[in-house]
Amino acid sequence: MQSNIWKQSLHLEPTKGWLNDPNGLVYFGGNYHIFHQYSYEVDGGLKLWYYYTSKDLINYEDKGVFLKPDKEFDKSGVYSGSANIEGDKVVFYYTGNVKYKGNYDYVHNGRGHNTIKFETKDFSTFSKKELILSTEDYPNMSNHVRDPKIFEKNNNSYLILGARDSNDFGCLLVYKNMEYYKTIYSTKNLGYMWECPDYIEVDGQELLLYSPQGTSNMYPDNKNIYQIGYSIIKEGIENVEKIDNFKILDYGHDFYASQTFIDEDGERVMYAWMYVPDSSYTNPTVHFGYQNCLTIPRVLKFKDGKLYQLIHKSVKKLLGNRIESTNFDLRSWYFKQDNGNSFKITIDSLVIEYDNSKLNIALNESGYGRDNRALEIDIKNIEIVFDNSSFEIFANDGEGSFSSRYYPKNHKTNIRSEKFEAYEFNSINIKQ
Ligand code: FRU
Repeated sequence: MQSNIWKQSLHLEPTKGWLNDPNGLVYFGGNYHIFHQYSYEVDGGLKLWYYYTSKDLINYEDKGVFLKPDKEFDKSGVYSGSANIEGDKVVFYYTGNVKYKGNYDYVHNGRGHNTIKFETKDFSTFSKKELILSTEDYPNMSNHVRDPKIFEKNNNSYLILGARDSNDFGCLLVYKNMEYYKTIYSTKNLGYMWECPDYIEVDGQELLLYSPQGTSNMYPDNKNIYQIGYSIIKEGIENVEKIDNFKILDYGHDFYASQTFIDEDGERVMYAWMYVPDSSYTNPTVHFGYQNCLTIPRVLKFKDGKLYQLIHKSVKKLLGNRIESTNFDLRSWYFKQDNGNSFKITIDSLVIEYDNSKLNIALNESGYGRDNRALEIDIKNIEIVFDNSSFEIFANDGEGSFSSRYYPKNHKTNIRSEKFEAYEFNSINIKQ
């Protein structure tokens, strides 16, 4: 087998098997605890939670599989969930997936989706799994209700779940102090299922982040099979009835099911799954027995009615030697241009070019089925994080981002730019 030039240096990815959504993210007791959906099977089979710890998001310990199905109520997979700090404890909430044997459609029948919790004070002992809501508890819903997120506001505790209702509309189920409170819909068509909801407050603004399915190509920005975006909740979570705004969170091919948490500095940090499920494109790393990674961590800010994504300090700390040349062969490096001028970066068949208020991104063969895209945008400044098989573009102080995987045959790089800064990246360290 040839050597793997696509192995990431900055991103968490499995050595074997399948990765999807970030789960249970929390900074607690001086450690970051990072979990993700995982399957031993490279194409995704029974879903488990995989676990890493880190003090700085640079040096990690690989803790292996953390959570498995071992109860009737989660027997077909421990699906996505989140962590909430409650007093001196971390409480995890997740979805237990149950698939009954028989002739079912598994949308409106044949499936159980249970909300389960368990807790810890020290990450060495954990309480028993406790079933808190089951399929029958969700009013007027299909069998697709999942991905609990818990938060507190004004001394009330809220639990939100992503859902598909019995008429196949995407929505969010909200519980207040564990009592059913309301179902939030959108005023415009936003598909049949909303996955992975997150509620955040950034710079004084309440926002909901979620991943709707069933609106591909319906709106100009909806280029992927499933979307991910955010809605500004002006009226507050207590008062919102219908969501009247939705903005795509990332314009690339590979960004989905994000989750946020508060880091050691009190910043709101987001990770996402760097892939979109059910896409027509492929990941050739399957050849090496694994696929998918998480994005780099990003700090969220809210300004002038928009959400901004900034590269987290832990990633910036990995910047190494300055690159002076415009032709090189590096796999993991950083590009920055502050002057708003045109530029062109070529890496094997990948071309990222900005000219005349147009950002063209052509992955060509390196995209393995990912389409070429063009965005109308006036770029005042841009930063790009290139890892071995991914690039994450942040334009105009993070107002726009574009995240995609690419799988080049080599990393022969050429830069055309009048004035730019580029640096090599050092790798994260993962202790097995
Ligand atoms: C999103 C998702 C979640 C679910 C998980 C299962 O990618 O479908 O809604 O909990 O993946 O792995």
